[in-house]
Amino acid sequence: MKFKRILNLIFQCSHLIKPFIYQNILFIFLTQLIVGLTLITPLILRYLIDNILTMKNWDLFPKFILMMSLALVISRVLSLATNIIYNRFAVNIEEKARNDLLSSILKKNMQFFNEVDEGDLVDRLMRSPEQLHTIPSLYAERLLSSIATIIVVFIIIIKIHSKMALFSIIVTPLFLVLYIRSRKLFYEQVREARQESASLTNFYLSTIRNIKHVKNMVYEEYEKEISDKSNRVLKKLGIKYSLTGAIVNNSVQILTKLNQLGVLIYGSILVNNEKMSIGTLVAFYSYLELLYTPVVSIIQTLTELNSSIVGMERYLEYYNENQEENFLDGLSFEPQDMSIEFKEVSFSYGKKEILRNLSFSIDHAEKVLLVGKSGIGKTTIISLLKRFYQYESGSIKIGDLNIESYNLRELRKNIMYVTQDSFFSPVSLRDNFKKVNPNITESEIIDALNKAHIYDDIFNSDKEGLETILTRNGDNFSGGQKRRISMAMVFASNAPIIILDEPFVGLDRSTTDKIWDNLKKEVRNKTVLVIDHNFRDTDYFNKVLEFDKDKILRIKV
Ligand SMILES: Nc1ncnc2c1ncn2[C@@H]1O[C@H](COP(=O)(O)OP(=O)(O)OP(=O)(O)O)[C@@H](O)[C@H]1O
Ligand SMILES: [Mg+2]
Repeated sequence: MKFKRILNLIFQCSHLIKPFIYQNILFIFLTQLIVGLTLITPLILRYLIDNILTMKNWDLFPKFILMMSLALVISRVLSLATNIIYNRFAVNIEEKARNDLLSSILKKNMQFFNEVDEGDLVDRLMRSPEQLHTIPSLYAERLLSSIATIIVVFIIIIKIHSKMALFSIIVTPLFLVLYIRSRKLFYEQVREARQESASLTNFYLSTIRNIKHVKNMVYEEYEKEISDKSNRVLKKLGIKYSLTGAIVNNSVQILTKLNQLGVLIYGSILVNNEKMSIGTLVAFYSYLELLYTPVVSIIQTLTELNSSIVGMERYLEYYNENQEENFLDGLSFEPQDMSIEFKEVSFSYGKKEILRNLSFSIDHAEKVLLVGKSGIGKTTIISLLKRFYQYESGSIKIGDLNIESYNLRELRKNIMYVTQDSFFSPVSLRDNFKKVNPNITESEIIDALNKAHIYDDIFNSDKEGLETILTRNGDNFSGGQKRRISMAMVFASNAPIIILDEPFVGLDRSTTDKIWDNLKKEVRNKTVLVIDHNFRDTDYFNKVLEFDKDKILRIKV
């Protein structure tokens, strides 16, 4: 059952393995050659003892040295080569897996991000890819080498002395019992520990990200308490599964040593009775070592396997599910007619209904103000227009076409939406502007900064001009400065539809008026939707929509 599950996991990861499959095949092939060489060594020893030492046939000694050195040198060279190839395979898979998982995650819909735990996501991105290569390469090789060794060694020792061979595998059933007892326990302990460590990562992320609020509310003790609790759980889980591992390992060692001792005593009696040569006993004993090593290795591999299975499952769980449609599908966005129409649109976040049969329209290049109580669903309307969420019924059109007909990437790029909370990438101011408009020149950025009345704050201060990095979502700027930078981005944008969600919160009246005057000149030919409770310049707008859940209450034209 587990075997089927593993095959299924490997099959689902085949897109990662395929490009590097030849490295893996070469790795497994070379390791089998090493196994072959290792299996010859006891025979060379037997040759030394029975044909050279016992017979005092010193002429053959150089031949022995040559054989032994060749076997040693070749196996070391092969071992070095396999190490290098194995590492290549591992890092290649890790790199591809991480890139693929990130692309997959970035394409997930907003519902996914609302529900997901950040730490868990980081854990899956950072740690799971490290564990994807082990099953198809390392563990496959270990199992193959071990099984091959066991079969070959068993055939050889049966040929050497069949009775003693059967005596030497007397402990095998005990190994099996040990494995079956421990494996399920191990798997569950590993999974539990991973989940706990992911949620602790999440907790730390949030503490550090919100450190200002932690200090503000004097939450330090509370934060430490949660962390201590989770760390205690992690410690317990760590102790539990190292104990399981230690018990399994040591039991295997004890069983093996006892069995070897038995074989040695039995063999000595045979040698004493001249029923076996010393060389044969030494060879037999060496083979026994070679027989136990793979048995131990199989048991270890089967227990370690759990950690890789957990890694693979956690990787695949977030790979390819809840994807938005392909960004590049659909029609390109034609900027001729930028009218917007909502027709009988209904939408809920989970069970919570937000919009019911909402209809309204905005003509091309019309200027519209949207007002309504806090929490009524104004921001949600924009989220639907930008297709962050899918509405349940009705239709939303831009121009003549439903928004679903357009290429998602272009649709989003053509609607310049200044969100209620400012958002910036942790790169320079210049690069933030390039993200809005890739072809923007330096003088256009300066012009945009001037129109948004933020130029002086950036150039005539201790800031580093356009090279200023917007660390931690622009926390090196004040709230009002961040709003003005966001507005500068509107001036920098070529998008034909402009949506401003409470654009002037935190700005004084005279600055607001100056920026607003500049904006009015700039957006003459664009469709503009402003969401604001307290907007004073209502005369400017062609329409004011007052919005209440399922209807537009008042339309001032
Ligand atoms: N991601 C979400 N998941 C679940 N519920 C949400 C989500 N976002 C918003 N809501 C809920 O949907 C309702 C509408 O939210 P929305 O942000 O659209 O309101 P708003 O009209 O923009 O309010 P405000 O004027 O305060 O910005 C609110 O009751 C809010 O609690
Ligand atoms: Mg809002």
